[in-house]
Amino acid sequence: MARQIRIAQISDLHIKPSGTLAYGRVDTAKALERCIAALNAFVPAPDFVVISGDLADAPSVEEYDHLRLLLAPLKLPFAGIPGNHDSREMMRAAFPNAAYAFPSGPLNQKIEIGALDLLLLDSSVPGKPHGELDAPTLQWLDATLGSSGGRPALVFQHHPPFVTGIWHMDRQNLHNAAELAAILQRHPRVQLIATGHVHRATLTMFAGRPCTICPVANHAVDLDLDQLREPSFKVEPPAFHLHTWFAGEGYGSLVTHQVPIGSFDGPHPFFGPDGKLL
Ligand SMILES: [Fe+2]
Repeated sequence: MARQIRIAQISDLHIKPSGTLAYGRVDTAKALERCIAALNAFVPAPDFVVISGDLADAPSVEEYDHLRLLLAPLKLPFAGIPGNHDSREMMRAAFPNAAYAFPSGPLNQKIEIGALDLLLLDSSVPGKPHGELDAPTLQWLDATLGSSGGRPALVFQHHPPFVTGIWHMDRQNLHNAAELAAILQRHPRVQLIATGHVHRATLTMFAGRPCTICPVANHAVDLDLDQLREPSFKVEPPAFHLHTWFAGEGYGSLVTHQVPIGSFDGPHPFFGPDGKLL
C-alpha cells in the first residue's frame, strides 16, 4: 500500500465549565469524551489531530482548564486553532508549548507531519463572530507556502471562506475570502482548505481546491436553507473528518472520510472461510 498520512479533524468543541450544558441542553464534555474514545480506538491510528476552533464556549480560564482535563486521555498529538468563541490569550496560556508562528496576536502554526505540511490559520477576530485573516497572517501564509514548494500542504482555519446557504452562518463566514484565494492561486501545493464553524459536514471547491467543513461530536447548526426558522441547533449523528493523504505523482492525493462516532454493529466479513459470499 502507498505511504499514507492520516490527519483527523475535530471541531467546535464548545467546552463549558464542568457540570454546565451548552445552551442549557448539550453536554459538550460528554460529546468530546466520546469523540476522544473514537480517535483513540481508530486503527490505524491517525498521525495527528487538528481541532478547528471553538474549543471553549464563553470563553473563560475555567473552560480551558476543563478542556485540558478532557483532552488528557487523547493518545494522539494535536493542535488547536481559535474560533470566534475562543480567546487567543487564554488559548495561548492553556497550550503554551504549541509552535505558534508569532509571539503574540494570531495563533498561526506550521506543523510538519512526514511529507505533509499543515498550516493552521487563526481567522478569529477578537470580539466578533465573523472571520478575517489579518495582514500579518496572510503574509505569513504566502511566505510559508513559498518556502518549500515541493511539499503538499493542508490549510486549516475556523471560518469557511464560502457561502453554505445557511443565512445566519453565512453572514459570519470568512469576510476576506478573496485575499485567501489570491494567495492559494500562487501555491498549487495546497491540497485542501479544511474549516469548522458551521458544525456540519460540507464540501465545495474554493480557489480550485476542495474545501470542507468538519462535522461535530455535539450539536449541528440546523440545516435551514431558506431562512425558515430562527438560528437553531439540532443534535445530529456525531462524526469527525479523517483527511487521508496518499503519496504519489506530484503532490499525491487526498481523500476525506467522514467517521461516525459511536458503537455500531460490525465489522462483519463479507466472505466465509471458503471465499464464498456469506
Ligand atoms: Fe462553533
